[in-house]
Amino acid sequence: MKLWKGRFSKAATSSADEFNASIEFDQRLYKDDIKGSMAHAAMLGKQGIIAADEAELIIKTLKEIEADIEAGKVEFTIESEDIHMNIESVLTERIGDAGKRLHTARSRNDQVAVDIRLYLKEEIAAIHQLLAKLMETLVDLAEQHQDTVMPGYTHLQRAQPVTLAYHLLAYYQMFKRDASRFADCLDRMDYLPLGCGALAGTTYDTDREFLAKELGFKGICPNAMDAVADRDFAVEFISCCSITMMHLSRFCEELIQWSSVEFSFVEIDDAYSTGSSIMPQKKNPDMAELIRGKTGRVYGDLMSLLTIIKGLPLAYNKDLQEDKLPVFDAGDTLKASVNIFTEMIATMKVKTENMERAAKYGYMNATDAADYLVTKGIPFRDCHEIIGKIVLHCINKGIAIEEMSIEEFKSFSDKFEEDIYDKIAIRSCIKAKKSKGSTSFDSVKQQLADIKSGK
Ligand code: ARG
Repeated sequence: MKLWKGRFSKAATSSADEFNASIEFDQRLYKDDIKGSMAHAAMLGKQGIIAADEAELIIKTLKEIEADIEAGKVEFTIESEDIHMNIESVLTERIGDAGKRLHTARSRNDQVAVDIRLYLKEEIAAIHQLLAKLMETLVDLAEQHQDTVMPGYTHLQRAQPVTLAYHLLAYYQMFKRDASRFADCLDRMDYLPLGCGALAGTTYDTDREFLAKELGFKGICPNAMDAVADRDFAVEFISCCSITMMHLSRFCEELIQWSSVEFSFVEIDDAYSTGSSIMPQKKNPDMAELIRGKTGRVYGDLMSLLTIIKGLPLAYNKDLQEDKLPVFDAGDTLKASVNIFTEMIATMKVKTENMERAAKYGYMNATDAADYLVTKGIPFRDCHEIIGKIVLHCINKGIAIEEMSIEEFKSFSDKFEEDIYDKIAIRSCIKAKKSKGSTSFDSVKQQLADIKSGK
């Protein structure tokens, strides 16, 4: 039965009902919807808008309906369109007139707005937990790999030696910012739209502050029209998901490269790899590739919601019903991705010898050789040129810089002394970094200490 049937002289066709309905996907809001309705009923009772015993009956029955939904005993119908009207219909079936009074002083517009906010507040709490676990895993790995030397890249060309711990802590910082972005998003979202009515407020003496307190919001939306019309908080949520997926995706791209035979820096555990249906030797990094692929989908969710909202005149329009699919998809995808990613990196094998070997070739100590000449009083630009010539010479001979004899060094500059060998040894290059936040062993140790002390 349609709750709004009064004005209509004809029933909707079944195709229109089907097209209009959102119950198929918004039923996952049932807990939030019931929570919001229970607070609303309590407020109506407290304010004397409905009788106190009716409020109690509504609350009690809503609790029962929630348990029945959980037990799979409630059948939702397309005719009742969405989760809000499905629950209201069941309520009215069970308690008659008292159920019909629940919708006093509210509209589905403020109802759906509060439901999504309640849903997203929980979603963000879950994401925060998953990100915390990921960051913890990165710190554990970084602690184990403070002495694991590897090439640092720019343009995917070997650039300067770094430690794996340093590389991992770079990602730690990204995920830390992601977590704080979600916290900011939550902060702006944390205002209650319930009690705003359809768009203009209501004529009843409601207590929205009471509702905010009951439902755990830090305040109320100050303008009713804004409260029912905008979904910027949902856009912001998907945007936070997109940025986090972007970081995961970059890391996945690296793991895909690192697990290739060409790199052989890591081996992803069998439990997080798949084989080929035709090539028996294959072991593929599917989890990492999927996260990279799903990142594209989450970006699509963001674009989809932005586009849904961009042309809507104030206040509510049915277009907004389409907000849920991208919001749910982005949250689901991010949570699944962070989870599997954390498990995957916690179990992967790091091939430290291969990383170190790779770090030794590729002239990554060239900058340090130039810095050596700077200490001898030569301007950096000139040092750069001298070392450039040395590198070319070494490439032609097929040797590393440190494989030149001291006479060879001196033929490029008489400032070279025996101590050059020590200065350009791979661990010396790392150790010699003095700037704050560098890859030096001491700096990484400090970064880890700062993380642990919550700085
Ligand atoms: N199912 C609707 C949505 O998700 C609920 C709000 C409907 N409001 C209305 N005035 N038709 O947006």
